[in-house]
Amino acid sequence: MKKKVNIGLIGAGTVGCGVYEVIRRNRKLIREQTGADLSIARIADIAPNRKRPVKIPRSLFTRDARDVTGDPKIDIVIELIGGTTAAADIVLAAIRNGKHLVTANKALLAHRGKDIFSAAGASGVEVGFEASVAGGIPLIRSLKEGLCANNILSIQGIMNGTSNYILHKMSSGGVSFADALADAKKEGYAEADPSFDINGTDSAHKLLILIALAWGGLFRMEEIAVEGISSVAPADISYANQFGYAIKPLASAKVSGGLVEAGVYPALVGAKSQLAAVDGVFNAVRIEGDAVGPVMFYGMGAGMMPTASAVVSDVVMIARGASGLAKIAVGGGGPKLAARGAVSSGFYARFEAEDTPGTLGKISTALGRRGISIRSVIQKPGNSAKKVPVVIMTRPCPGSAMEKAVAEIESRITGTPAVVLRIEEE
Ligand code: HSE
Repeated sequence: MKKKVNIGLIGAGTVGCGVYEVIRRNRKLIREQTGADLSIARIADIAPNRKRPVKIPRSLFTRDARDVTGDPKIDIVIELIGGTTAAADIVLAAIRNGKHLVTANKALLAHRGKDIFSAAGASGVEVGFEASVAGGIPLIRSLKEGLCANNILSIQGIMNGTSNYILHKMSSGGVSFADALADAKKEGYAEADPSFDINGTDSAHKLLILIALAWGGLFRMEEIAVEGISSVAPADISYANQFGYAIKPLASAKVSGGLVEAGVYPALVGAKSQLAAVDGVFNAVRIEGDAVGPVMFYGMGAGMMPTASAVVSDVVMIARGASGLAKIAVGGGGPKLAARGAVSSGFYARFEAEDTPGTLGKISTALGRRGISIRSVIQKPGNSAKKVPVVIMTRPCPGSAMEKAVAEIESRITGTPAVVLRIEEE
C-alpha cells in the first residue's frame, strides 16, 4: 500500500476519539518512525454533534457508513461501533469494496470471525484486530510473531478491565459494586452493554480469539464455561484474603492431554502471585510456550488512548504492507475442547449452614464421598438460631465431582445456595 494512508473511521465514541487524537498528536512521529502518513479522511457516526472529549472538524462527519465503506479514496476502514449486527454488515461491505479493515470488536470476531476472514481472503485485504484483546497491550502480535517458535501450552489472565476494576474497588473496601461500575463507565472502560463485562461474555470473546490464534480453532461461545463476577460478595474477598488469596476475573485456556481446557470465571489466585497484583483497569495475560516458558504481558486493557494505540498500530502495519498480521483460520479442524466437568482445580466454597452439632461433619462427608479432600476450613462463631458461613478450601478435584457434592450439600444439608470459586495456582 502507498505510504499516505486515508482512513475511514466508523464510530467516533471513546476509542474512535482516541484514534483521532493519537493520529493528531503523533502523526509526525509515526511518519518518521514507520514511513506511514496517516490521515483520517472521513468519519461515520450516528451522532455527529455529540459532545466529544476531542475536537473533530464537523466536515469530516457523515451519518451514513456507506459514505465511508464506498469512498474510493479510503484505503483502510476502522470499525469501532461494536456489536455484531450493524458492525458485521459494515465490515463485510468495506471488505467487499477492497478496503483493509481494522477493528477492536471482539464480539464480532468471536461470532463472525470466520466469515470476516473468509471475505478478506476473497478480496485480498488485510484485517487487523490487535485492539480486540487486552486493549493497549500488543498481545496478539506478540503471540503470533514473538512466540511463533513455540507450542503454546497455556494462556491465562485478566482480560476485562471493568470487572477487575470492580473487584479491586470492592476489595479495597468502602466502594459498592454499583459505584465501581459507574466509575468504570465514566472512564470509558465498560462495554456499551456493561453486562458483558460483568457476566464474563467480554472476556470469553477475547479468550476465543486467543484460542483460535494459539491452537487454530474458533470455538463457539456456548462451548466454553463462562461465569461472571456477580456471585462474588465482599465476604468472599475477605475470606480469600484470610486464606492468602485474592479474587480475580480470569480467562484461562490450556492444553492438557491433547484437549483445550477453557473457561472464564472469578478465581482465587495466590496473594503474592503476579495476577493478584494486577489492579484497577489493568489487564495481564500470562502465556506459556514450550520453548520460552512463561511470559507475562501487562498494561491498560481498556480506555480511549490505550485501545487507540493498538488500533493505530494495526493501521501502520497494514500501511507498511506487513504480512505478519494474525489471522483467524476459516477452515474446519482445530483442537477439541475438554468436557467442562473434567477440568480439575482446587475449589473455594462458602456454605451458609446451621451452627448445630455435626453440620461440618456432614459437609465434609458429602465432599469425601466424591473423593474431595479438604485443605482448610474457616467457621466463624455464631448462634444456633442463625446460619453461619462455613468456608472450605479443597485440594484439586474434577469440577464435576465438586458440582455434585455442592448440589447435595445445598439440597440436603444447608438448604441455601453456596458460592463456589476455582482456585488457580500459577
Ligand atoms: N470493556 C472492556 C474491558 C474493554 O472492560 O476490559 C474493551 O475490551
